[in-house]
Amino acid sequence: MNLLHGGDYNPEQWRDYPEILEQDIEYMKKAHINCATVNVFGWSSIEAEEGVYNFAFLTSIINRLYENGIYVILGTPSGAMPQWLMNNYPEVLVVKPNGIRNLPGERHNFCFSSPVMRDRVKKINHLLAENYANHPGVIMWHISNEIGNSLNRGECHCELCQQRFRLFLKEKYQTLDNLNQAWWTTFWSHNFTNWNQIHSPAPHGEMCIHGLNLEWKHFNTVQAMEFVQIEYDAVHHFNPSIPITTNFMNFYNPHNYGPYSKIVDVIAFDSYPQWHLNEDELVEAIDAAFNFNMMRTFKKQPFYLMESTPSLVNWRDKNFHKKPGMHMLSSMQAVAHGSNSVLYFQFRKGRGAFEKYHGAVVDHNGRSDTRVFQDVTAVGERLETISNRVCSTINQPEVAMIFDWTNWWTLQNTSANCKEIHYPKLCCQYYTPFWKSGIDMDVMDAHGNLEDYKVIIAPAMYSYTKEYAEKVRAYVEKGGIYIGTYWTGHVNETDLCYQQDAPAYLQDVFGMIREEVDSCNAYYPIQVNYKGEERTIYGINERLVVSTAEVIASYQGGFYQDIPCVTKNSYGNGTAYYIGIEQTEEFLTEILKEIMELGALSCDIANDLPRGVTINKRVGEETLYFVQNFNPYEVKMQLKKSCEVLESKEMVRELILNAYDCVIVK
Ligand code: GLA
Ligand code: ZN
Repeated sequence: MNLLHGGDYNPEQWRDYPEILEQDIEYMKKAHINCATVNVFGWSSIEAEEGVYNFAFLTSIINRLYENGIYVILGTPSGAMPQWLMNNYPEVLVVKPNGIRNLPGERHNFCFSSPVMRDRVKKINHLLAENYANHPGVIMWHISNEIGNSLNRGECHCELCQQRFRLFLKEKYQTLDNLNQAWWTTFWSHNFTNWNQIHSPAPHGEMCIHGLNLEWKHFNTVQAMEFVQIEYDAVHHFNPSIPITTNFMNFYNPHNYGPYSKIVDVIAFDSYPQWHLNEDELVEAIDAAFNFNMMRTFKKQPFYLMESTPSLVNWRDKNFHKKPGMHMLSSMQAVAHGSNSVLYFQFRKGRGAFEKYHGAVVDHNGRSDTRVFQDVTAVGERLETISNRVCSTINQPEVAMIFDWTNWWTLQNTSANCKEIHYPKLCCQYYTPFWKSGIDMDVMDAHGNLEDYKVIIAPAMYSYTKEYAEKVRAYVEKGGIYIGTYWTGHVNETDLCYQQDAPAYLQDVFGMIREEVDSCNAYYPIQVNYKGEERTIYGINERLVVSTAEVIASYQGGFYQDIPCVTKNSYGNGTAYYIGIEQTEEFLTEILKEIMELGALSCDIANDLPRGVTINKRVGEETLYFVQNFNPYEVKMQLKKSCEVLESKEMVRELILNAYDCVIVK
């Protein structure tokens, strides 16, 4: 397969504009587009009324695309329901936490449990598969669209969902006694004495039983997965060789993408960084990079960038156009991290409704001489040139970070000092020094295989199971380097506190315990002594008591004098670091650099990258380095050795990167 270039295409909106449909093909070819995602919101045009199907238009579109060398990613249409479905069967509509059923409208907006919805989706998917699963132009199934990106954030509180939730809990806990204990319900006398007393968390009802909140999230994940599985099964057997995907979102909290990623064949992802929002691009670049890493790690295979904007979005308070160069850079960034596609939302701007001002390859003016069109064309040309070399390569980092949904949800449950923790931001903060050093990183949940990596970083791993702790122990024993931070090892998988010192089950691995957690601020800052130098910290700070660990940093002054806050412990053949403070980026970088050295982690081709520059490596028959400059100005950098620039074949020792440039060398 080639690198894919293209994106969401909604010809059904242009049925009455034959000249536009013709121009679309001409423009796609002009922009080096080889792939279009169709039918994502096309339900009403293939089933205008219940049971009245007409595939003639869709067939003509798919045929025409194929005849012109453009492949199709075929959407199943459940991303938005037609009027007849919402109006004939109001029971498909979602019920909000307040118990009120939504009105027809918006996207998604259906209950995962609804038998009517399940039935309708099976029917339409069967028909789609019957018609197109063996069409030579169809290369992938795209199930629904960004499941859970709707008014209701992927949950429904209807009576049917309540019943299913109770069944889910019964299966898991077997008895109410088990459940009551696991959820600590005697608190406020809320012990359940009948399964029917259990109700989903709601702002006007129960929100204070953490076990309940957590299980509701697990349940919603299972609900979404079950729905995707129904859609999957409905199309799969017609031609099992066509990969099936659904598009994931950036740091999407409501559903656990860990197990979810297992039920699709390939991973697809939608990425919309807010470029040009900040003083520099680093925050957005690192956030995007982190998410790309996660998508790649799910299957340790290339993923597909399913959506991105060719220019700007329409749904933020401020929507900035990509400045010259940024479209190429942000597209190449995805490829650098393991994407085998650059796809857009959307090919052509619609004339009306909510997304009429969302960026598109073709604007309302219908011209191909616009800056955006030229930018897109340049990306298409470049992808075509590098396609053969890049497609079969993949990133293989030596370091991984744990990013775990259960942990995320338990952190959100708390009402203690860890409430301050913004888990995605914290993980990005720990990734930043690696990004800046050109060291790639996988991102996986607590079920991932630690042994594949030299170094594992697990920021604020507040919740884990005893089995996880055992896995960490074995990993360090064998020689792994494990980094834990403040708030490690406090609660189990149902959010019950462990009755022991933190970090639970790992005290000897870290060679220390956490005795107290405090928080300081600008009025009461705390000084820390690191390598004989004083640093000021503001934020979470823990008092550690060491047994076997070496003290890397300790507090200065007041009742904290000489108390350890950063430690390093040799355990078996490996090392466990504990970072018990929230610190400035500079200070954290120093500590992490020390760890990179210990793990012999470095970038193959350059030392000391200029600020704003990073490097990703994709490995296959040849090793490709994607050197990306996120600065709005030119930078020069020395390489450790002479490298060949992939596209010009020039041998260079010094690289000159233009503003927002990406150069590939081997
Ligand atoms: C999401 C959706 C698309 C579109 C874009 C706009 O990613 O999947 O249908 O609404 O947002 O940015
Ligand atoms: Zn429901």
